[in-house]
Amino acid sequence: MLTRRAFLQNTTAGAALAAATFRDDSQARVIAAGAAVARESPAALAADEDYWREIQQAFTLDRTIINLNNGGVCPSPRVVHEALKRYLDISNQSPVYHMWQVLEPNIETVRRRLAGAFGCDGEELAITRNASEALQIAQLGVALESGDEVVTTNQDYGRMLDTWEQRVRRDGIRLTKISFLVPPRSLDDLADRLLGAITPATKVLHFCHITNLTGQIFPVRRICDEARRRGIKTIVDGAHAFAHFPYKAADLGCDFYGTSLHKWLLAPIGTGFLYVRRPEIAALWPLTPAPEAKTTDIRKFEEIGTHPAANHNAIAEALAFHDGIGIERKAARLRYLRDRWARRLAAHPKVRIHTNLDPAHSCAIGTVQIASVATPKLVERLWQRWRIIATPIVHNEYEGARITPNVYTTIEEIDTFASAMEEIAKSGVD
Ligand SMILES: Cc1ncc(COP(=O)(O)O)c(C=O)c1O
Repeated sequence: MLTRRAFLQNTTAGAALAAATFRDDSQARVIAAGAAVARESPAALAADEDYWREIQQAFTLDRTIINLNNGGVCPSPRVVHEALKRYLDISNQSPVYHMWQVLEPNIETVRRRLAGAFGCDGEELAITRNASEALQIAQLGVALESGDEVVTTNQDYGRMLDTWEQRVRRDGIRLTKISFLVPPRSLDDLADRLLGAITPATKVLHFCHITNLTGQIFPVRRICDEARRRGIKTIVDGAHAFAHFPYKAADLGCDFYGTSLHKWLLAPIGTGFLYVRRPEIAALWPLTPAPEAKTTDIRKFEEIGTHPAANHNAIAEALAFHDGIGIERKAARLRYLRDRWARRLAAHPKVRIHTNLDPAHSCAIGTVQIASVATPKLVERLWQRWRIIATPIVHNEYEGARITPNVYTTIEEIDTFASAMEEIAKSGVD
C-alpha cells in the first residue's frame, strides 16, 4: 500500500501530469488518498488539506463563484455525472430495450446498497425523485379522518407544511405547529415541546431529523419511541440528514423517513428515498396508485410511469464516492469547515449565530445574522461583491443567512466568506 508520504510526493511531483489525466481517475485518486491516510482520525484528517484537495478536484465546478448553498441541491462529483450521462446515452439507443430491460432492473442493486447504507431491509426502501415525493407519499398516504391531529413544528419545510395544510382543507384534519428556540435550550427541550403538544386526537408526529433553516438536529429516537408507546405514527423529514453525518435507521426508530439524495449524497439531481417500517407498508396508500397485488410490496411507491433509469442507477456511483471518503470523515470535515467561519464570526459583537455548534446539535449547516443588516440585503451584498451564494432565511421568529459548505469547499472560500461578513458587519450595506 502507498504510504501517505509517498502518495503526497507522487501527487506533488506528478501534478502537471495529473492535471492532464485526472479526469479519468478521480474516483481512484479519492480512494488512494483515503488509503494513504487510513490511520488518521476523522478529526485530524478534517484539517488535512492535502487529502481534501483530492476531493475538491473530483468535481467540475465554477470556482469563480463560492457556493455556500449546498443545502439546496449539490453538484455531483465527475464520476457520478459521467455515470448519469453514460446511462442516458445507453437509454437513448432503444429505450424500450436498453432502458427498460437493461438498466431498469438494476434499480434493485441501488435499493440494496442504499438500504445497507441506511441500515434497513431493502424491502423497506423505495427510490423516489426527491424528499418531497418521499414525504408526501407518507403524508398523503397515511390514513387520517376528519378531526385527527398532526403535530409538527413551525420550522418544518414549507412544502411539507403545505401538504398537511391541503389535508386540513381536503380531509378536515387538524394541524398543530409548535415553535422552538434557535438555538434551542437543549435536545430534551425539543423533544419535550413536540411530545408535550400531543393530545388524544394526535395520530401523527412530523418533524425534521435536521432542519433546513438552522441545521438543528432533533433527538429523533427519543421522540419516536415515545410516540410509538402512545400509538402515534412518526414521519421524519431527513432531507438533509442522509450522507451528511453518521446514523442508521435503528438510531431513529421512526415509521416513515424521506430524504433527498441530490443533497449530501451528491447523487444526480432528482433522486431521493422513502423508508417505510415493514409493518406500515400494507396500510400506506401510494401517491400514484399500484395494483392490489403489490399492497405489501415497497415497490408500490415507485409506480410513477415512464421515467429515466439513469438518475436512480447513478446513485450507485454516488454511494461508491461517498464510501471512498467515509461518513465519519465527511462529517468531521463538514463540521471543521462550519466551525472555521462560525467560531471566527461568533466573536464579533454584531453577529448572532442561530445554530448550536455542539456536534450533537448540528453539522455542516449554520445560520448567521448580522444584527444591523436585513438578511436579504446581506445575502445580496455577498453575491454582488464577492460572488458568494448564501441562502436568506427569514422566519417569523428570527432571520439569518444559511451557510452550507460541502466536501469540495476550500479553506480559502470559507475565509473569504468570513472576511466578507466582517466587512459587512463593520461598514453595513448602504
Ligand atoms: C427539510 C427539507 N425537507 C424537504 C425538502 C425537499 O427536498 P427535495 O427538494 O429534495 O424534494 C427540503 C429541501 O430543501 C428540505 O430542506
